[in-house]
Parts: sequence; C-alpha cells; structure tokens
Amino acid sequence: MKIDANTKLCATLAYPNRKTTVPIMHNAGFDALGLNMRYMAFEPKNIGQAMNAIRALNLVGVSVSKPYKEKVIKYLDEVDETAKEIGAVNVVHNVDGKLKGYNSDWIGAVEALEEHTQLKGKKIAVLGAGGASRAIIYGLKKRNANVLLFNRTEAKGKDLAKEFGITWGGTLDQIKDFSPEIIVSTIPHDREDTSSSPISVKASKNTHIVMDIVVRKDNSKMLIDAVENGAVAITGVRMLVLQGVFTFELFSKQKAPVEVMHSAVFDAMTKGVISKE
Ligand code: ATR
Repeated sequence: MKIDANTKLCATLAYPNRKTTVPIMHNAGFDALGLNMRYMAFEPKNIGQAMNAIRALNLVGVSVSKPYKEKVIKYLDEVDETAKEIGAVNVVHNVDGKLKGYNSDWIGAVEALEEHTQLKGKKIAVLGAGGASRAIIYGLKKRNANVLLFNRTEAKGKDLAKEFGITWGGTLDQIKDFSPEIIVSTIPHDREDTSSSPISVKASKNTHIVMDIVVRKDNSKMLIDAVENGAVAITGVRMLVLQGVFTFELFSKQKAPVEVMHSAVFDAMTKGVISKE
C-alpha cells in the first residue's frame, strides 16, 4: 500500500461508522488497479463542517450514509436530478471545489436484481417505507416494474406510495394476498440474527427472488426461508458492492473491479473484521 504526498483521499461519512466495510471494498479496488487512492471512514458530528473539509483538504469525494443523506443536501453546490427526486444524496463528488451530490442506492438495488431477471412489468413488493425504500422504489419505477409497498405503519406507507404513484399493499402480513414475483425488504434488523423474519416468504408461492438489503455475511431468516422455498436470495452485500461501483468509477475514472470489491467485503465480514468496534 502506497501513501504519499499525491495520494488522493476519499471517505465514507456516517454516524456511527466504525462497522462499515466501505473503505475495505474501495481500497481493495484501488490496490487491484494500482491507483494511488485511499478510502477512509469518518464519523462527523456536523455534516456541514465535513463538507467544508472536503473543499479545504481537496478530497476527491465521499459516500454519505445515515443519518446524513437528507441533511447533506443543503451544503452542496449542485444535486443531480435523480438525487433530487429521491430526496437523498449518498455520494458527493468534489469537482474543482464544487460539490455535486448523487444517489446510487437505487442503482445498487436495481442492478443486484437485474443480475437475475429483467424488471419490466414484474410484480415487486417493497417492504418498509424509509430512505432506502424511497431510493429502491425510484429505481424499480424507472425500470417500469409494477411496485407494491408494504409497511408496518400504515400512514407512512400510504404517503410514500402516493408520492411515487405506486400501489399501497398494506401491512406486512397482507403480502400473502398479492403473490409478488419479487420481494425486496428494506427493514433493518440485527445482522447477527438468524431467527427472525419480517414476513413469511413461504406464504408467497409465486415469489422467485427475495432480496434483503441488510449487509451481513450470511442469509437472514427471511432469505433462509426464501431459499428453502426455491427462490433466489440476494443479500445487502451485493447491493452495497454494485452501488459502490458507481462511486468507484466516479472518483477514479476507471472501470471498477467488481468481484475484487465483492470478495473484499465478504472476506472482511466472514473474518469478523467489522463486527468488532
Ligand atoms: P432506512 O431509512 O435505512 O430505510 P428506516 O427508516 O429506519 O431505515 O426504516 C425503514 C422501514 O423499516 C420503516 O418504514 C419501518 O417501519 P415504520 O414505518 O413502521 O417505522 C420499518 N421497520 C423497522 N423496524 C421494523 C420491524 N421490526 N418490523 C417491521 N418494520 C420495521
């Protein structure tokens, strides 16, 4: 690993942020291509000051995660149309001191699904109505999928469904009435937990792909059930890596070594690197 006076610095900004695999993923990619770039993790308490630090220290850019994806917008010089529509930024690129915000959350999710099937016209149930759900709904609509939304809290789910012009399916137990072809869960859970599941995917005979966006080294209970049911299971690791490809290519201007990045994340998680504080 080379670090010298010309090393270009990138970072992930979130709070808390000490369990992230994002630096491991990007540094593996930089090393594979022999790039003089490094990715660090920071835990800023003030996202506005962190944006000024990018300008002052001339960082190439940063990825942004909870709780700053919405808050960061007002500190940027420009926000691309997609990020505006989603209402959240997860990538900030520094171009000659001007900060431009993007959203690649939707890209990771859509591409992870598209590795297995095309999405046009597919009946897809999205579970949860938070920030991740917004980005994924945006992406699925862009691919002309038939999106149904399910959420524990009805009012929040209905509002989001209305905003994006998709079908409000109901609470999680109502999913069995709709037989979706694909289920995407955005419901957060403990990544060590293998015994609980937000829904019973066994109830949906028609379902052939289940994606759970929680980043973990093994399958969640929901994905274990999906596999037992003959469905393809997609973990949050794949979504993380494919959204990371967007960031990597924006920052380095090189084609990302996708599988190197994926293996780096997977190895780090398997060895428990990121499960320790
Ligand atoms: P993010 O912004 O990362 O998508 P979030 O907003 O914290 O995450 O949560 C996403 C969704 O998961 C929320 O819509 C939440 O449902 P509520 O609207 O009812 O709060 C849902 N969620 C969180 N924990 C849940 C649980 N244990 N069971 C069912 N839904 C849950």
